[in-house]
Amino acid sequence: MVEDLRLDSLEGVGPVTTRKLSDAGVHNVMDLIVRGPVDIAEITGMEKDTAEKIVNKARKHLVEGGLLAKDFISASELYKTRQSIGKITTGTNCLDTLFDGGIETRALTEVYGEFGCGKTQFAHTMSVMVQKSKEEGGLDGGVLYIDTEGTFRPERIVTIAQAHDMDPEKVLDRIIVARAYNSAHQTLILEEAGAIIEEHNVKLIVADSAVGLFRAEYLGRGTLSVRQQKLNHFVHLLVRIAETYDCAAIATNQVMASPDVFFGDPTRPIGGNVVAHTSTYRIYFKKSGKKRIARMVDSPHHPEQEVIFALGAAGVIDPEDTDKKPKKDTKKATAKKVKEPIVEATVEPKVEATVEPKVEATVEPKVEATVEPEVD
Ligand SMILES: Nc1ncnc2c1ncn2[C@@H]1O[C@H](COP(=O)(O)OP(=O)(O)OP(=O)(O)O)[C@@H](O)[C@H]1O
Ligand SMILES: [Mg+2]
Repeated sequence: MVEDLRLDSLEGVGPVTTRKLSDAGVHNVMDLIVRGPVDIAEITGMEKDTAEKIVNKARKHLVEGGLLAKDFISASELYKTRQSIGKITTGTNCLDTLFDGGIETRALTEVYGEFGCGKTQFAHTMSVMVQKSKEEGGLDGGVLYIDTEGTFRPERIVTIAQAHDMDPEKVLDRIIVARAYNSAHQTLILEEAGAIIEEHNVKLIVADSAVGLFRAEYLGRGTLSVRQQKLNHFVHLLVRIAETYDCAAIATNQVMASPDVFFGDPTRPIGGNVVAHTSTYRIYFKKSGKKRIARMVDSPHHPEQEVIFALGAAGVIDPEDTDKKPKKDTKKATAKKVKEPIVEATVEPKVEATVEPKVEATVEPKVEATVEPEVD
């Protein structure tokens, strides 16, 4: 298998081209697909036509090896493939409901929301859950965690693993953390990720945050288009890696206040359309007191719905695992029982029984019986 992926296994790719590609950081057939013809031409200096031909050959090679989907495929065949697509459980019922089973491989899931809403907690939880066996809802895979904000915490991984009855040391061993110091470095990490992904059987790539460094470095309107172009490159790379290596990708994104929104939520994910259009699934996290709300904002097949979750030692958790609700329900039920019978029993029978006989029976005799003795 590994030999099959060598660059010189492609027809017409000789030692000279192989060296040219290797020098530019393209080490195997998968890397060719991930980078794409435009990038390949740019980094190797070869003609665009030649790069296109090589990338097409690479694609054909992977399709023949069953590693990539065919160009033409019947919908029923596609349906079958999608049924077997890898999913990673979130470890909670509520978020699994939202994701219809879990985070999908071969797709980019974007999570956006304000500070402290749980994006990093979610990323940590998923880094543990992906390591569970397939029977338990994981993919028995490793993690590539690109940390751009310095918020990755191994001690959180330990508590989350313990809460899920997993060996913390083993779990830590399977998470490869790459601390990115600037946006170019962040992109470089991804460009060179191929070997690590294969070596560690990576099934989840996290970019937390995907956009922060780009935003910090390219300030002001004048640099906006450069920023979006670079961000576009990064996000597309992430998607292509997820598709080529059959792994899940999570990108987190902060929100900013947008002054032109008068109704509804005045926050928008930063990164604008670039991230929005590239991600397959978009989820919005929102604080609601101690709880959190997760909304599926954009998905090709999930309904737009909301669920409530919470944060705890186990990472993201079901809300019922933090508090007890049943008290409220019993109060409501007893209140109804008391009110209903009284209303029905008093209104109707009493009106008929009292109005007529009482008027006749009380007004006349009482006047006669009381007025006279009191005068005496
Ligand atoms: N061990 C823990 N147990 C329970 N809750 C925790 C624990 N650690 C962190 N939290 C909760 O997670 C919240 C922080 O969430 P997180 O770091 O995921 O936010 P974020 O969305 O990544 O924010 P930012 O945009 O600033 O990166 C804290 O406010 C805290 O409530
Ligand atoms: Mg964070």
